[in-house]
Amino acid sequence: MNSGAQPGHVYLVGAGPGNPDLLTLRAADLLRTADVILPDDLVSEDVLALASPTAEIIAVGKRCGQPRITQAGIHGLMLEHAQADRSVLRLKSGDPLVFGRAGEELAALREAGIPVEIVPGISVAFAVAADLQIPLTDRASASKLILATAHHAEGKVELSPSWSGAFPDDATLVIYMPGRNFGALASDLIASGIPQETPCVAVSKASTPLQHVCATTLGDLHVAAIGPAPVVLLIGRAIKLP
Ligand SMILES: C[S@@+](CC[C@H](N)C(=O)[O-])C[C@H]1O[C@@H](n2cnc3c(N)ncnc32)[C@H](O)[C@@H]1O
Repeated sequence: MNSGAQPGHVYLVGAGPGNPDLLTLRAADLLRTADVILPDDLVSEDVLALASPTAEIIAVGKRCGQPRITQAGIHGLMLEHAQADRSVLRLKSGDPLVFGRAGEELAALREAGIPVEIVPGISVAFAVAADLQIPLTDRASASKLILATAHHAEGKVELSPSWSGAFPDDATLVIYMPGRNFGALASDLIASGIPQETPCVAVSKASTPLQHVCATTLGDLHVAAIGPAPVVLLIGRAIKLP
């Protein structure tokens, strides 16, 4: 087992949904030993509290599509510190390879010849399913699991994932970054063939003391009392609260 963050290396690490108990041992080790930490907005304070007191922590989150720092700026910071022989922890909520722009960051690091390690984390879909005790797959009703986003790229907001053909009725659909227009999102999904009586759970601020769970159906999503961002939606015949 590797130990400690190495000088000149960049680590793309999943911080999980917020509770430090859900970090991997490798993530905790890197948090304790990295020289520079670049966390996203959704990385919790409790996770950051594990960092070395001497670590330089530079917040690089973007909120509501309003960039405080550009993606190129984040690449620049990672390269600058790694090339100065510091160990750099790029810390992302959930899993770094799920809606985390890891592809762009990896490409920049590889092009510059910087050694990179990726450490997985618990994506919010799995944290929510475990917390609410809802299986995401079910032998009788859900043989597929689809992770989608309703917000594909900066400057380009799409209200629903685009499907070709009817949506499979034996799938659980998890929507990250659903936006706030739940009525339009639900209409699009119903139009793509998902029955309006399909169960739906919207979880706001999952894995924090402010977690808010709203169980409804796709047809009633537009009137549901859904908590503030960040919100993740779980939709499908298998999505039933116990
Ligand atoms: C940029 S994506 C990051 C996903 C992350 N890499 C993961 O694997 O969970 C951000 C979106 O993830 C979801 N999300 C992340 N943390 C969340 C939380 N604590 N509660 C609810 N949704 C969350 C929301 O849909 C949010 O808009």
